[in-house]
Amino acid sequence: MKVIVGITGGIAAYKAPLLVRLLRKEGHEVKCVATDHALQFVTRLTLETVSDNKLYSDLFDRGNNHSTEHISLKDWGDMIIVAPATANIIGKMASGIGDDALSTLLLSMSRKPIMLAPAMNTQMWECPAVQRNIEYLRSVGVHIVSPTDGELACGTSGTGRMAEPEEIMRQITSLPDARPIHESPLNNMRVLVTAGPTYERIDSVRFIGNYSSGKMGFALAEALASMGATVELVSGPTSLSVHHPLIHRTDVESARQMFDAATTLFPDCQAAILSAAVADYRPEQTADHKLKKQGEEGMTLKLVQNPDILATLGSRKVEGQTLIGFALETDNELDNARHKLEKKNLDYIVLNSLRDKGAGFGVDTNRVTIIGRSGASLETPLLSKKEVAEVIVRHCLCH
Ligand code: PMT
Repeated sequence: MKVIVGITGGIAAYKAPLLVRLLRKEGHEVKCVATDHALQFVTRLTLETVSDNKLYSDLFDRGNNHSTEHISLKDWGDMIIVAPATANIIGKMASGIGDDALSTLLLSMSRKPIMLAPAMNTQMWECPAVQRNIEYLRSVGVHIVSPTDGELACGTSGTGRMAEPEEIMRQITSLPDARPIHESPLNNMRVLVTAGPTYERIDSVRFIGNYSSGKMGFALAEALASMGATVELVSGPTSLSVHHPLIHRTDVESARQMFDAATTLFPDCQAAILSAAVADYRPEQTADHKLKKQGEEGMTLKLVQNPDILATLGSRKVEGQTLIGFALETDNELDNARHKLEKKNLDYIVLNSLRDKGAGFGVDTNRVTIIGRSGASLETPLLSKKEVAEVIVRHCLCH
């Protein structure tokens, strides 16, 4: 295999020659591309000697045969590994910036597998912007060799140490798992997700709601985005937050607002997963002030039916759109779920039984049965909502 080793400016750059030697020992051809900052930590002579090839570092190197010689490396290499990858190169990649030989080469390599071995101080690694960039790069198919825990050059210890060259080597040799960016399984797919509860106002201080936290729906949005899908997340009231450039969030309060948002977004989506716990009824009248106590005879609240978002999308679904609903049941679960699948014209229904311990509202775990139109079903064990979300997305959308 022909491997390009990119090196950026961090102390872990001293391990790059070791990685190059391991690659050569296994019979791979190697060419190195280093940033100017990397060459403060490791010398040109060392990298050229261990790779037995010329080093690329300058966009306008007079020694190059032509001005785009560094870009033509994209045709030479079967893959690129950047080790160490600093927060700076990660940020440039996530933003599509090319301002030196390595970053421009990376921009041109989206049809080849790209691996990054991040290395930085723990607080830099945990910085939300860095984590957002890493999540985004993962979602478009970049393979991240996770940094490890341990002592760092700055004298502190924590997560941020670059993985050892042997571990990076092991991950390079299991390369079939690393996809070229354009092969993310859900690239070019736009998916609508509904999440959380709805609140139906009684007056200016009271509402009818339910115990949904939004955790299941947010986990679905994150699983979809991590596989490259653009997500339209329509969320009822929740304290959850999400930071992913592929997730566009619309906040709503009531079932009718959720209906408006979902029906507007659905025509431009290839799939929809409706996990929200939508109130079936709302008070017929809403007071714009706080209602006074009515006395001992009590008070009567007249409820009227809300529109059914899932059934409406089912009636408007066109060829090529996949519609997935949830069913929250307490008895006769399978029959009720199958009935909803038929009646609402769904492709799949995800059954949540409130009889299962650790499943349903509020908790971090779930256990579901996914039923398809053919009648075939897939039962999960009790898993984290993140894992359940991945099973649902893979089973229903990754064909
Ligand atoms: O948010 P969490 O705390 O993580 O909890 C997750 C969950 C338990 C809410 C979730 O896993 C779940 O089961 N969601 C579906 C809840 C529900 O309302 O089920 P249902 O059987 O009443 O509704 C069937 C389907 O129709 C659902 O896809 C629902 O979103 C949809 N629906 C219902 C009524 C309505 N007016 N419009 C709808 O679109």
